[in-house]
Amino acid sequence: MTCHQGRTAGNTVAAAIEGKDLDTAGSSLRFINPHYATAAASWLGGYGGAGYHYEGREYSGLFWHARPVSSCNSCHEPHSLEVDFEPCQTCHQGETPQDIRVSRLSHDGSGNAAVGIAYDIRGNSETLIQMIKDYAESVTGK
Ligand code: HEC
Ligand code: HEC
Repeated sequence: MTCHQGRTAGNTVAAAIEGKDLDTAGSSLRFINPHYATAAASWLGGYGGAGYHYEGREYSGLFWHARPVSSCNSCHEPHSLEVDFEPCQTCHQGETPQDIRVSRLSHDGSGNAAVGIAYDIRGNSETLIQMIKDYAESVTGK
């Protein structure tokens, strides 16, 4: 948890933009890098505050997974980080962790609920990076 919580978080963004006009480029603003593999912060969901929280929006907290597999070490071998997939198959189907899906809803706008939830996350991630690029272009021209 200590090593994978990230070196920056949403409050780093809040501090950097405090008192500044929204949607205005400024030379003091830089890419805020949380370092890599911030899994502990992601695991905590909105409670971890890893991402910036917009005012007036609601953010999901921790995803309460089935109790026997709720801690980091119940899925990962702590030193190699390998996921032991066999115990997952007591409750889930599929060949790999990426195939796991419980949700019947599509979360990425594709309408495809036949693939693992990992694909919805990837789809949203692709949409997000495109939106960031479009935003940057329209606000800063770059
Ligand atoms: C429910 C099972 C589960 C739990 C609980 C879980 N993980 Fe994971 N974790 C995974 C799966 C599945 C992957 C993706 C593995 C893959 O892509 O092959 C992953 C990926 C990761 C990665 C990225 C590995 C890489 O090579 O990029 C890190 C780091 C990580 N987890 C750390 C943690 C930490 C720290 C915790 C506890 C706060 C945690 N995980 C809790 C299942 C879990
Ligand atoms: C004891 C049964 C059980 C085991 C074992 C189990 N899970 Fe789950 N898992 C669940 C249940 C129940 C849900 C649905 C929880 C909910 O939606 O509230 C779920 C949901 C998930 C989801 C979200 C799917 C979606 O469509 O939203 C993922 C991803 C997941 N589990 C991964 C894993 C991984 C990886 C393992 C093995 C390391 C694992 N699970 C082991 C019971 C289990």
